Amino acid sequence: MERHTESGVPIAPVYRPQDLAGWDPGTELGEPGEYPYTRGVYPTMYTGRPWTMRQYAGFGTAAESNARYRQLIAGGAAGLSVAFDLPTQMGHDSDAPLAHGEVGKVGVAIDSVEDMRVLFDGIPLDRVSTSMTINAPAALLLLLYQLVAEEQGIDPGLLTGTVQNDVLKEYVARGTYIFPPGPSLRLTADVFRYCRAELPKWNTISISGYHMAEAGASPAQEIAFTLADAIAYVRTALAAGMEVDAFAPRLSFFFVARTTLLEEVAKFRAARRIWARVMREEFGARDPKSLMLRFHTQTAGVQLTAQQPELNLVRVAVQGLAAVLGGTQSLHTNSFDEAIALPTEKSARLALRTQQVLAYETDVPHTVDPFAGSYAVERMTDEVEAAALDLMARVEAMGGAVAAIEAGFQKEEIERNAYRIARETESGERVVVGVNRFALDEEEPYEPLRVDPAIEDRQRASLAALRAGRDGAAVDEALAALREAAAGTANVLYPMREALRARATVGEVCGALREVWGTYVPADSGW
Ligand code: 3HC
Repeated sequence: MERHTESGVPIAPVYRPQDLAGWDPGTELGEPGEYPYTRGVYPTMYTGRPWTMRQYAGFGTAAESNARYRQLIAGGAAGLSVAFDLPTQMGHDSDAPLAHGEVGKVGVAIDSVEDMRVLFDGIPLDRVSTSMTINAPAALLLLLYQLVAEEQGIDPGLLTGTVQNDVLKEYVARGTYIFPPGPSLRLTADVFRYCRAELPKWNTISISGYHMAEAGASPAQEIAFTLADAIAYVRTALAAGMEVDAFAPRLSFFFVARTTLLEEVAKFRAARRIWARVMREEFGARDPKSLMLRFHTQTAGVQLTAQQPELNLVRVAVQGLAAVLGGTQSLHTNSFDEAIALPTEKSARLALRTQQVLAYETDVPHTVDPFAGSYAVERMTDEVEAAALDLMARVEAMGGAVAAIEAGFQKEEIERNAYRIARETESGERVVVGVNRFALDEEEPYEPLRVDPAIEDRQRASLAALRAGRDGAAVDEALAALREAAAGTANVLYPMREALRARATVGEVCGALREVWGTYVPADSGW
């Protein structure tokens, strides 16, 4: 039976030197830390510094999430990764009608600077790097972070972290968009410019393929559509008058790691090579940092099973290994119970321990890009690269990522692949251990973590107290200044920061922008 990679390319039972005929390690690989960065972005990679162990976490109120972050840091995590609840991600306050039933569920509820202060209480923001998975309201949460850091007496120039801020993939796969593409991209460019001036060490965006992969994208689709989005962001910033080397060094990426380890390693290597070439050849970037595709990886949530959930520990170890062999900068390993509920304290700890076993017990970090020169992996790297370039050319022919999104291209391609995966699983051609083979007649009971529904009431009460205790006229004035900037061309982040400082809420700030910019309704929504 002929076997194929997840990107649909046949896999040979044996690879030989002739499979790499004409392949030139000088041009295709170079040295680690050198163009085209196939072998990794740093010359010493993990022999110089381990990847950042960064576990995505957050639920309930700011106080509960703060306790989880402190546990993670005490347990050896080097970076934080904040999960926000859906109302926050959609720019609604906890007391908004649309927020009902969702407060604190899939992440922490943040309504104002007061919640943000509690979230980072006792965490030294000059010594930890923080990623925030926030997209349409990314600018707001970034500014709240800066305000809290200022209260801690920290120079904004020292703050390190990342906002996801990648709204294009929200239209394709994740769904937490607010504004139409035009104003969303303008806001992105405003964030780039603001960070350049005020927060120079902050990674301004995490251009993400992860969610497309979770929606069913193949590895080639994942990197192609992500890099196509990245190109759209670069063009937006250039059109806004920025120099490429003024913002490109702070672009970052986010991919999945599947259990198909060899192809995943190839995918990461191919993505780095494509990006370096695009940046140098198409955009004329000169700063080496502009050419480096630095990325975070999360293990594939979609490959976890609710059946025999402990098996997920094994899957995650393999996926994490793929990310490390592929040269990731930062890694989240999923908890084994995530197909069932939010991770418990114990399962979150085991997930972090999995990374620690990879980092401190295996020999994998002791030599850079150990697969270099492997007939199989080099061949696969070339093949994933070719497939991705082909898809990128199709996006380009449609007028670029935004036009292709508006035509529904990426979504349809991803759905087609998702359907294929579902059919193969259904037929048993694709084995899922514990589900369609080696299943148990009866699953063992499992007691999941539950979020307290009373959180919503508590959050409403504190919002009421906040509104009663602040200077309402100052808030109105600050929101009016924000509306004016949004209607014109001035950078909206400055008036936004002042509104947040005056204790305007996330819902109020996003509401002001909605009034000016409107909201996005997808073409296929039937509205
Ligand atoms: N030699 C020399 N220097 C090295 C080095 C080496 N071997 N290794 C690291 N360094 C240096 C780097 O140069 C860097 O310093 P600089 O910023 O001054 O250049 C510093 O050490 C930190 O290293 P990295 O930048 O490599 O690592 P970070 O962890 O700081 O950043 C990142 C990694 C990918 C660039 C960043 O964007 C990041 O942390 N991203 C995380 C994104 C994330 O967590 N997302 C969660 C998403 S969850 C989600 O979406 C939810 C749901 O819907 C699934």
